[in-house]
Amino acid sequence: MADTRDQSADPVVVTVCTTCRPEGADPEAIRPGRILAERLLGAELPEGVQIRGVECLSACSRSCALHLSGGAERWSYVYGDLDPDTHLDEILAGVSAYSETSDGFVPWRQRPVVFRKQSIARIPPVSMPSVELTAASAPPPAAAADTSPETPAVPAQD
Ligand code: FES
Repeated sequence: MADTRDQSADPVVVTVCTTCRPEGADPEAIRPGRILAERLLGAELPEGVQIRGVECLSACSRSCALHLSGGAERWSYVYGDLDPDTHLDEILAGVSAYSETSDGFVPWRQRPVVFRKQSIARIPPVSMPSVELTAASAPPPAAAADTSPETPAVPAQD
């Protein structure tokens, strides 16, 4: 099978939290995220895919969690509730499909179920333009300020 990946694309990085502890788990046990990261590291990965372990992705209640990224031009994703015993093959398939894109966007039906159903966040590439915003539609800062009775609505004039 021909390698159809965009060879000029930035490397794909799978960042796994190695410190999450599922509720009720033995605090001395090896953390599932570490197991997942080490299994990914030992798996057959598409060329250039990097695995790294970190301490906390701020998705602590969704253990195991990982971040899938691939440079400034790709969408990136955070997935959670991953199980190193049951989701490894799906994660590998999802990482492989992602690495074959130049923009990080894998069509919905081509994503493994675990990536379809357990996404916590998707972050657009930094090159994606903003939706249209107008400062005029935001409430004025005074309306969002502290409205307690001790705070005068208008600053005193001396
Ligand atoms: S400890 Fe794993 S996401 Fe916070």
